[in-house]
Amino acid sequence: MALINTNPTQTESWKKLTEHFNQLNTTTLTELFQEDSDRASKFKIALDDVELDYSKNKISKETLDLLVGLANDVQLKDAIEKYFSGDTINATEGRAVLHTALRSTSEEAILVDGKDIKPKVQTTLRKIRAFSNKVISGKWKGYTGKNITDVVNIGIGGSDLGPDMVVEALKFYKNKLNVHFVSNVEGDHVAEVLRKINPETTLFVIVSKTFTTQETISNANTIKNWFLKSASIFDVAKHFVAVSTNLEAVYDFGIDKNNVFPMWNWVGGRFSLWSAVGLSISLAVGFDNFKELLQGAEEVDSHFKEAEFDQNIPVVLALLSVWYNNFYGAETEAILPYTQYLSKLPAYLQQAIMESNGKSVDRNGDKITYQTGTIIWGSTGTNMQHAFMQLVHQGTKLIPADFIGYKESLHGYEDHHRKLMANYEAQMQALAFGKTKEEVHLELKTNGDLDKVNQLLPFKVFEGNRPSNAILFDKLTPKSLGKLIAIYEHKIFVQGIIWNIYSYDQFGVELGKELAKKILKN
Ligand code: F6P
Repeated sequence: MALINTNPTQTESWKKLTEHFNQLNTTTLTELFQEDSDRASKFKIALDDVELDYSKNKISKETLDLLVGLANDVQLKDAIEKYFSGDTINATEGRAVLHTALRSTSEEAILVDGKDIKPKVQTTLRKIRAFSNKVISGKWKGYTGKNITDVVNIGIGGSDLGPDMVVEALKFYKNKLNVHFVSNVEGDHVAEVLRKINPETTLFVIVSKTFTTQETISNANTIKNWFLKSASIFDVAKHFVAVSTNLEAVYDFGIDKNNVFPMWNWVGGRFSLWSAVGLSISLAVGFDNFKELLQGAEEVDSHFKEAEFDQNIPVVLALLSVWYNNFYGAETEAILPYTQYLSKLPAYLQQAIMESNGKSVDRNGDKITYQTGTIIWGSTGTNMQHAFMQLVHQGTKLIPADFIGYKESLHGYEDHHRKLMANYEAQMQALAFGKTKEEVHLELKTNGDLDKVNQLLPFKVFEGNRPSNAILFDKLTPKSLGKLIAIYEHKIFVQGIIWNIYSYDQFGVELGKELAKKILKN
């Protein structure tokens, strides 16, 4: 069954939210905290090893109730049902959206075209496990009989960003295999990777749902030609494997039938790291860790399906984002992980969020008159504090920010971790509460700089009243990473439902591809 069409701006809740916004807009975060000393514990959701503290948002209990009302007005509950049960919610492409089935351990069948997809998923997982074990253990040999030492993932977009981000994020858990990523059609990218590897000991994983993507096929051909300079065509089977839906094209490339891992059209590229697209993850950290990643995501799936909306982490994050995007006119959101391991998270989320919700036509096919997809950007703390945070603190734009932190560090440098987490807290406090004229005045006086008050005071004031979310995990593990990714996946879904758009197609990337082909022919 199709998703219902509701223009969110025509709902009762939207009207009430508009009125409410006009009242609340003049109340600052400092005032909201003064009004309710218990605010920090009220606007908090705990889910095992993760806690969302959203108290430093420009909301009251009434805001939250009205936003939940909006979710009800657009029948979010019903949409979630359809999402998980395999309805064709990607209607413009005539497909279900079932990345959640890839991590589901329940026995319940999920039907696509009348057939249960669960057995296929399990068979593929077993194939990923067997293959990863063979390569990691050294049973899988290269064409000269040597063990594999390096893996190169050849793909782009969803066939690159997810695995690349996760492999980087889970570096602490890595085994002896070195995993590289080649994505750009720009030849220096592939050339630099080729400089690092030996054809005798490298495995190439070509990941392309369509197996027609210009960048991926160009890189795969360049790499195969490079490989064939030292090996023979009969050695290709030992060094090239593929993940794709386009089996014919894969076989044409010369890949052995046994070395093809399936993809399915009910999984969108940007949500596919849980499938065989994650093969390079399983190779990098082992299948058990890959399974843990999936398990973390499955736990969030259950939470998302079952928790009341005001106790539901992805729903609350989505509602807050709608609040800022559609009522405060915020255009961007910052993703600020306080771990170097998550340095690739902002780029990954840019595709996931912006390719999904960057739409200006609603589910009726009508031009939209309200704002949709947010612009995502970010970097790791504390580095970004010394880079772009000036603008977030004192610039003219409202930029809601997600601070992602971990209670425990992985390598155990306690002193570093205490400093890191002090900065994590400090940034959110500074954004929310700022520094008043009086405080600046007192500070200048205490420092013996009273003579500079007239000159410096306005520049040193921090208005504050800038929102942030704290998403705090116990520790960065494969499982907690799976949770983090799934939280954002479901946030995307909820926003697409509220904005009445189709989040799972990406026609907007096609025109550029077509024109590039034409230009290339001339
Ligand atoms: O150009 C966008 C896109 O279609 C993404 O949605 C996708 O993840 C990427 O290209 C790669 O596509 P493929 O896996 O088919 O090579």
